[in-house]
Amino acid sequence: MDILSVLKQLNAAHGPSGDEGGVRAKIEELARPYADEIITDTLGNLIVHKKGPGPWVMLTAHMDSIGFIVTHIEKEGFLRVGRLGGVSPKEAAYSAVRFKNGVRGVFAPEEKADFGKLKLDECFVDIGAGSDEEARKLVQVGDTCVYDRSIRTCGGRVMGPYLDDRLACAVLLCALERIKEPAYNLSLVFTVQEEVGLRGARTAAWWVDPDICVVVDVTDVDDTPGSEKNGTARLGGGAAIKVMDSSIICHPEVVAKLEEIAKSQSIPIQRDIMRSGGTDAGAIQNAHYGVKTGGISIPCRYIHTPAEAADLQDAKACVLLAAAFAQGPLA
Ligand code: CO
Ligand code: ZN
Repeated sequence: MDILSVLKQLNAAHGPSGDEGGVRAKIEELARPYADEIITDTLGNLIVHKKGPGPWVMLTAHMDSIGFIVTHIEKEGFLRVGRLGGVSPKEAAYSAVRFKNGVRGVFAPEEKADFGKLKLDECFVDIGAGSDEEARKLVQVGDTCVYDRSIRTCGGRVMGPYLDDRLACAVLLCALERIKEPAYNLSLVFTVQEEVGLRGARTAAWWVDPDICVVVDVTDVDDTPGSEKNGTARLGGGAAIKVMDSSIICHPEVVAKLEEIAKSQSIPIQRDIMRSGGTDAGAIQNAHYGVKTGGISIPCRYIHTPAEAADLQDAKACVLLAAAFAQGPLA
């Protein structure tokens, strides 16, 4: 599997939090040849099992994304929307959006709004309808939309919306393809509703009941002009091994294990701390009596904007690290 082509296929399948079905079907199709068993749990998480001996290891990536949900249709035909996850009106302003049924629109701010302090209530989605009646033929209250922008490359970099966390889904799928003989019972879990509060990961961790878990997600960087230093990673620096974010202090054994594997296989790595922002790791470590949890992070610029940017070599390092982790000894 080619990581870029997998990413493009996943992003074409719609799916903000609450509507991950299209993405899930695509992941299931791609995972099928390498899996012993695939189930979808009650909340909609996709759990891909590959049989192996010994303890149960879980690797996860979330397949949902941020987006908007229609809450009001105004008589002039404009839509007002609520947010699904941490989407910022300022960052979304003037972005093209698309609905699952193919309807397209633009997310626009009211002209009089103070752009620096732009609120969601001061924005609307224009789907080209001239009246509420016309608009209702196209969308309903409760329909969701996502950024309508394709994935592009620029040198070794990939740019576009929803690298968070579809790039990590692609990393797990590429890792799955490489895992010939897992050293453990392996569950690759593609979770739902991460962006609205780590909800899918919580039930998936109960379902799988893992001994150890590694969460793959994007992470904030500290490599652009005027950086607020929320992150520690940089693009091109390799796979980032999570030490901490606002949801978790990673289990030291998992951090050490990942670093040791990377060192032994000459996989480039860096350390990842996010001063704010969490991941599924935070929910999983608190399941059952606690799960030893860590993370492999893909450094990413402009997270949650329509133009996220990551380095494909970093993503490939994450594939190698995840695959090596699944095949190597834990102790
Ligand atoms: Co996110
Ligand atoms: Zn994420």
